[in-house]
Amino acid sequence: MKTILVTGGCGFIGSNFVRWQLATYPDVSVINVDKLTYAGNLENLADLEGNPRYQFAKGDICDREFIDRTLALRPIDAVINFAAESHVDRSILDSGPFIQTNIVGTQVLLDACRKANIPRYVQVSTDEVYGSLGSDGFFTEETPLAPNSPYSASKTAADLLVRAYFHTFHFPVITTRCSNNYGPYQFPEKLIPLFISNLLNDQQVPVYGAGTNVRDWIHVIDHCRGIDAALRRGTPGEVYNFGGHSELQNIELTKKLLDALKKPHSLIKYVTDRAGHDFRYAIDTSKAERELGWRPQVTFEEGLTDTIEWYLGHRDWVDRIKSGAYRDYYQTQYGQRLS
Ligand code: NAD
Ligand code: TYD
Repeated sequence: MKTILVTGGCGFIGSNFVRWQLATYPDVSVINVDKLTYAGNLENLADLEGNPRYQFAKGDICDREFIDRTLALRPIDAVINFAAESHVDRSILDSGPFIQTNIVGTQVLLDACRKANIPRYVQVSTDEVYGSLGSDGFFTEETPLAPNSPYSASKTAADLLVRAYFHTFHFPVITTRCSNNYGPYQFPEKLIPLFISNLLNDQQVPVYGAGTNVRDWIHVIDHCRGIDAALRRGTPGEVYNFGGHSELQNIELTKKLLDALKKPHSLIKYVTDRAGHDFRYAIDTSKAERELGWRPQVTFEEGLTDTIEWYLGHRDWVDRIKSGAYRDYYQTQYGQRLS
């Protein structure tokens, strides 16, 4: 593996992956293709500016000419598709960009990669394609796909295109499906960074419904290690699930954040539930453990402490994000102005 092209490398998981990949493998170079949407931030990889093994190309995965040109820059050993519209609440407000980037973008990328004979393609997907669990059981790679939100429906459509390109064209694809990530550089619209950033400003935290929905939290670096294991050791045509074995009700997690930041529980504000809110996600990771030799290494307690430290040390990063269009999003989503 010499040159890897990643898409969406200026987002949360992509930027962590690029930094980790370059630090872990001294012989690897990365080309990062990103459209720089609201979620894409050049600051996330500012430390790599001038690194001869890193190259940034601004562009859209839906733009076939741009993708063809970028794939022709030099021989590429693998493409990893992180680029997506990624937030469920935004997909409820407007699903259009989700259909465009997540479905059309994946199709354009698959076609271009197939034509360029890219030897390996990894689709970074989500456990949300499996729908929702009741209070017991786990998602396996055999669980039927049953997405419930416009976001997860668009990711499922992309997964099915990826599957079809393997079946029809023998194009060497691998799909990874991971649970909820947390860690540095996560855009403050997702639960953990949103709540940390509100609490640092003594603002209320909006808990949907009764707060009893359950998510399985995984540190972003454990996810990056999983994607890397799938890239290097996975079998084409296969799907691999990743999760953190850290299930928590949203209200339990919220209280942990309040306690860690020494804030009063009176800052909890129960708000109207998310439409179609999936009740519970939980992952059976035995296939990835058996076939890839992967397992999560970061405990939730360690990971959350480090993440809080990171946000405390990067308040200017959050403030810059919050000074822009984010304020309009917050007003639309929560019916409240940010102070
Ligand atoms: P993110 O929203 O932080 O970043 C997405 C990145 O993609 C941004 O840099 C954005 O500019 C870029 N992008 C968007 N549209 C593009 C386009 N048309 N062309 C090129 N670039 C474009 O998302 P994330 O949380 O880092 O998620 C990355 C991937 O991982 C997504 O595919 C998501 O579905 C998947 N995933 C996320 C989680 C999670 O908990 N965040 C869990 C499982 C899977
Ligand atoms: P989120 O971080 O948006 O991830 P996902 O929807 O992909 O799981 O949400 C995680 C959980 O937190 C989910 O059950 C919805 C809930 N949530 C809130 O209660 N309040 C909020 O403001 C947000 C953003 C999420």
